[in-house]
Amino acid sequence: MERKKLALIFGGRSGEHVVSLRSAASIMEAVDLESYEIMPVGITRDGAWLAGPDAWLSLWEQRLPREAGRAVLLTDPGHPGLLIQSDQHPGEWRHQPVDVAFPVLHGTYGEDGTIQGLFELAGIPYVGSGVLASATGMDKVFMKAIFQQCGLPVAPYLFFYRYQWHGLEASWQERVATELGFPCFVKPANLGSSVGITKVFAPAELPAAVEEALLYDEKVLVEEFVAGREIECAVLGDIEASASRPGEVIPCNEFYDYRAKYIDDRSNLVVPVDLGAALEESIKDYSIRAFRAVEASGLARVDFFVNPDKDTVIINEINTMPGFTSISMYPKMWEASGVGYRELVGRLIDIAFSRHNRRQALLFTPPE
Ligand SMILES: Nc1ncnc2c1ncn2[C@@H]1O[C@H](COP(=O)(O)OP(=O)(O)O)[C@@H](O)[C@H]1O
Ligand SMILES: [Mg+2]
Repeated sequence: MERKKLALIFGGRSGEHVVSLRSAASIMEAVDLESYEIMPVGITRDGAWLAGPDAWLSLWEQRLPREAGRAVLLTDPGHPGLLIQSDQHPGEWRHQPVDVAFPVLHGTYGEDGTIQGLFELAGIPYVGSGVLASATGMDKVFMKAIFQQCGLPVAPYLFFYRYQWHGLEASWQERVATELGFPCFVKPANLGSSVGITKVFAPAELPAAVEEALLYDEKVLVEEFVAGREIECAVLGDIEASASRPGEVIPCNEFYDYRAKYIDDRSNLVVPVDLGAALEESIKDYSIRAFRAVEASGLARVDFFVNPDKDTVIINEINTMPGFTSISMYPKMWEASGVGYRELVGRLIDIAFSRHNRRQALLFTPPE
């Protein structure tokens, strides 16, 4: 049987470009090469798509995108695939069929529904959540609203847009003080990797934190500080989903900020973490409910603040394309639950096909 063509898409325009490269390197080694032929597609930090044998090196070495080897996804479901520019003749483009895409992209333009929309237009099955779930998981305000609607516990919060902040700073300060108290967390609504997030200890620090968040988004979330351990849980599936054993992140900084995530190597990851059977069950249950609440598919990592003494569990967020290097939390939590990395990759690709096939049967226009 002919091998299926898997477009492994990595890099991307977000701050998690390098994490994506590392995740893709691990996945490349784990794909079953008897069933799949890998087509590497690298997206540069500027958003140019490169395909072919050099794509991988170009991104690692951060060479500027060349004139040749560029790729575009053809949005023609009759011919699912890429158009790839010839190396020898830059004016020539050839069609490269693609059977399934694995976008190992985190954050903006990768995890937020935009590239998922492109695959929908192209009629290509893809690993991970669809447009709506990806966008909802990326926008912390919408995510929290959906979680609340589904009866899931979230930290109290406020949000506002840039135009509602300027000129009304004092009244927001007042509302934050009375409704949330200090310390609190100020975050851009859409981003990740803790970029633009500040822990604010006193009212006077609020304006600078809001201005920092406004650098990254027009919408700002202010959240009550939750004292607790940072517990995470991995979900795998689609309509039927299962949850892994939980793990714990012990940040090396004041909170799990950008430095603690990617620069300092001193944060501790404990997988699995022993929280007692009852608490573990409730975290798994909340994780699957969070997965369903946003209509996620394939994979998601659900992050919590847990206080085992008080038995409190608060959902912080859902990540629809979590870090996927062989030492990332998501695969480690599955490993600890009996699903190895290779099997995980295989199952995610299978889910991409089954979700696609199921949805293929839908009508887009009324019957004549
Ligand atoms: N309400 C909160 N209470 C306590 N710590 C928080 C709170 N919100 C965020 N943090 C800390 O900031 C980190 C990053 O926040 P998070 O909302 O997860 O953003 P990101 O999507 O960038 O990962 C968390 O892992 C945690 O360490
Ligand atoms: Mg987080």
